Amino acid sequence: MNVLGILPFARQLLANAITEGDNVIDGTAGNGHDTLFLAKLVGKTGKVFAFDIQEQAILNTKVRLEENDALTQVTLFQKGHEEVKSFVPNGAIGNITGAIFNLGYLPGGDKAIVTKPDTTLQAITDIFSMLKKGGIIVLVIYYGHEEGKSEKDEVINFVSNIDQTEAHVLSYQFINQKNNPPFIVAIEKR
Ligand SMILES: C[S@@+](CC[C@H](N)C(=O)[O-])C[C@H]1O[C@@H](n2cnc3c(N)ncnc32)[C@H](O)[C@@H]1O
Repeated sequence: MNVLGILPFARQLLANAITEGDNVIDGTAGNGHDTLFLAKLVGKTGKVFAFDIQEQAILNTKVRLEENDALTQVTLFQKGHEEVKSFVPNGAIGNITGAIFNLGYLPGGDKAIVTKPDTTLQAITDIFSMLKKGGIIVLVIYYGHEEGKSEKDEVINFVSNIDQTEAHVLSYQFINQKNNPPFIVAIEKR
């Protein structure tokens, strides 16, 4: 396939916006794949602030980072991303160049624990206010599960109404695939 798949495209968007030494956020650490990707982009001089409400997710992420010598540039919070403003240090506010969210449930974990529309929108709003110009929020939206459908609708409604003078907002989606495959929404601050 010559077009980028969903996860490679999400990573390409992040890599375009983030350089070594930057401050970035993983809103849903999960098993730590994206946290590690961000940690490699920012390097030892940068900082990743990673959030997840589940202890298992934080542990899994910590192990992955340790195995890859990338724990030092990451701060893990077992907190909801809707609390991001209380935990990201003042010095990083206005200076965030990238953030990633993988919405839905923890792969291999409890499928009843999922991201929710209200808290997702709160986190998007707060992180957008922390972005540097050119900074990007990438959302990978999984909506195959029941709650995922309303979350998808609420996120699309919200981001579609962001003033175009404030952000470039895009959707990247394979529209002929069956079974509700994940898709991307990205918000770049202008
Ligand atoms: C699809 S998974 C993330 C996968 C992860 N990006 C990875 O690389 O493995 C979604 C995660 O969001 C977490 N989550 C749910 N609600 C949350 C909230 N309010 N704040 C932070 N994380 C939340 C879940 O615990 C779950 O681990």
